[in-house]
Amino acid sequence: MSERFDVVDVIRAKRDRHELSDEQIGWVVDAYTRGAVADEQMSALGMAIFLNGMDRREISQWTQAMIASGERLDFSPIIGPGRKIATADKHSTGGVGDKITLPLAPLVAAYGVAVPQLSGRGLGHTGGTLDKLESIPGWQAAVSNDRMMSILGSVGAVICAAGTGLAPADKKLYALRDVTGTVEAIPLIASSIMSKKIAEGTDSLVLDVKVGSGAFMKDEESARELAQTMVDLGGAAGVKTTALLTDMSTPLGLTVGNAIEVEESVEVLAGGGPADVVELTVALAREMLQASGVDEDPAEALADGRAMDVYREMIRAQGGDPEAALPVARESHVIVAPATGTLRRLDALSVGVASWRLGAGRSRKEDPVQAGAGVRLHAKPGDRVKEGEPLMTLLTDTPERFDRALESLAGAYDIATTDSAGAERALILGRLSAE
Ligand code: URA
Repeated sequence: MSERFDVVDVIRAKRDRHELSDEQIGWVVDAYTRGAVADEQMSALGMAIFLNGMDRREISQWTQAMIASGERLDFSPIIGPGRKIATADKHSTGGVGDKITLPLAPLVAAYGVAVPQLSGRGLGHTGGTLDKLESIPGWQAAVSNDRMMSILGSVGAVICAAGTGLAPADKKLYALRDVTGTVEAIPLIASSIMSKKIAEGTDSLVLDVKVGSGAFMKDEESARELAQTMVDLGGAAGVKTTALLTDMSTPLGLTVGNAIEVEESVEVLAGGGPADVVELTVALAREMLQASGVDEDPAEALADGRAMDVYREMIRAQGGDPEAALPVARESHVIVAPATGTLRRLDALSVGVASWRLGAGRSRKEDPVQAGAGVRLHAKPGDRVKEGEPLMTLLTDTPERFDRALESLAGAYDIATTDSAGAERALILGRLSAE
């Protein structure tokens, strides 16, 4: 079949900082998906986009082309009088200790809003929601579209693996970006995330865009640009989209891993849990309820157990036993505070890498993960610590992993022994809505 464009011309155009036309973008995404553009050619184009960027029109066309590569879901059958009020979704750009989806989805569903959370597995130092939930005995991530719709209509919340039908162009391209150093490009991240969310067909979306060492975006300015790009793409496609910029310079909560993050999420659903996890869960839930026209305080359903009831139903609907004991790592190693004072800094990236090296994460997508592995924190920045008392506990089934995990934690924290501990960083750094 003769092709409409020569891919080398498209690569050269972006290499030489020209804008790509709508037709070129539509063609190249489609041709790559059907194998008419080779991986090495798309790698070159990806790097040219990484280096020279794309304007808003190009990003919007690229996103549309990725949506057009696959199916679109339609949740309208479960919405209406006597059914669910609306659909609302949350997406986080990924961080360390980020277990927020687990308490958030059932919390929002407790108010009659349907929450489809099509989630992924972890790669590198950021954990994956499905890996965490898979530590619950019996729980299955794979759910057919029909079953997903039925759980959404009854329970109201479903957290499952995204099927292969949504934005297949993105699946192929994301795997390529991962091995060609082109993940951290705003046009490519924004189009990747938003193509999947728009194809999913949610009524509203709240984005949790992370800033700091444990996030893709290390500084607030780039995180803000990424957030605004995604909010505008969502708005243009008819999805009510807002974004919170949130701190990822230190891990969220006191656990980083799989089973131990489920345990902490259950504490939050029981009305307890670390203050930062509760604050972010409630803030994101408020955005989702507001976008769905529900004027209620989400903190109430955490306090009175309604969110916990939905969580238990949601786990059971996918074969899991919410009452079963969670796996526990066979070995542990305690790191003690080297001095008495105030913990001033605890670096998210270092803790994320340690947890990954302990076996909680994977290097290749086919690797298994250890359910019990991870890092339990005994103090957060701002807390007082005492020399010789536990600062962190490292957990794994394979103790030969301790040395490499300890290496990643060298220099990861500071303890101030004087009163000059400095101001604590806010968790929520900003909110963005359509421009
Ligand atoms: N998550 C995605 O889905 N895509 C990206 O490009 C980055 C994070």
